[in-house]
Amino acid sequence: MQKKPKNVQPCHDRTSSHPSDSSFWEERYQSGDMPWEKGAPSPGLVDFLAEHSKLPRGTVCVPGCGTGHDVRAWAGAGFEVFGYDIAPSAMRLAAERTREAGLSAQFQLGDFLADPPPLLFDWVFEHTLLCAIQPNQREDYVRSVLRWLKPDGQYLAVNYLIPDREGPPFGTTRDELWQRFSPHFELFKEWVPRSYPNRTGLELMLWWRRKGV
Ligand SMILES: C[S@@+](CC[C@H](N)C(=O)[O-])C[C@H]1O[C@@H](n2cnc3c(N)ncnc32)[C@H](O)[C@@H]1O
Repeated sequence: MQKKPKNVQPCHDRTSSHPSDSSFWEERYQSGDMPWEKGAPSPGLVDFLAEHSKLPRGTVCVPGCGTGHDVRAWAGAGFEVFGYDIAPSAMRLAAERTREAGLSAQFQLGDFLADPPPLLFDWVFEHTLLCAIQPNQREDYVRSVLRWLKPDGQYLAVNYLIPDREGPPFGTTRDELWQRFSPHFELFKEWVPRSYPNRTGLELMLWWRRKGV
């Protein structure tokens, strides 16, 4: 068993609410108990955008975007970005920081697993939402990615391969990801990205293209 990185701790016992409730996440933002908040976008995303500077600029959805670091990375690269989060404080902070950075993006409070998409996206970008929801909600998550993407859309994921069963964060494996996504997506590319220091070697990026077009 790999050891859990020191500052990624189970948080299910810290509050009375449940990780599938918005109040669970809102309490985390209000108390400042946010070990996932690194003050910078995913290094793997930063490198991806630098290495693929010729990609057509389309629409991107970042569900569970937190305070919006990844949204601002996509926006800074010229994409039209929509950040979604279930926690009101995350959306307020994300909008403030994006304004302060002089960037343009839209933020909307909502439940990615339940809400209808405001539009269909060229890209959905995953970073620590899949490990944040209850594992028994993962089928809903896959259905939501399909619901929110255009028929020829792409799903880029920074997956967190930790063994934890008590979370969030809840672990996953490459096998599980393959089983869930390969029926609907072609795997275009996979690689181990550069990571935040405490996640080095624990992340796997998967770039999927939707099947059937
Ligand atoms: C572990 S945090 C990661 C935040 C951000 N992706 C990052 O890496 O900084 C998980 C985020 O997902 C949000 N979240 C949880 N369930 C959600 C849902 N069903 N729909 C939208 N956002 C959700 C939480 O409020 C929280 O901001």
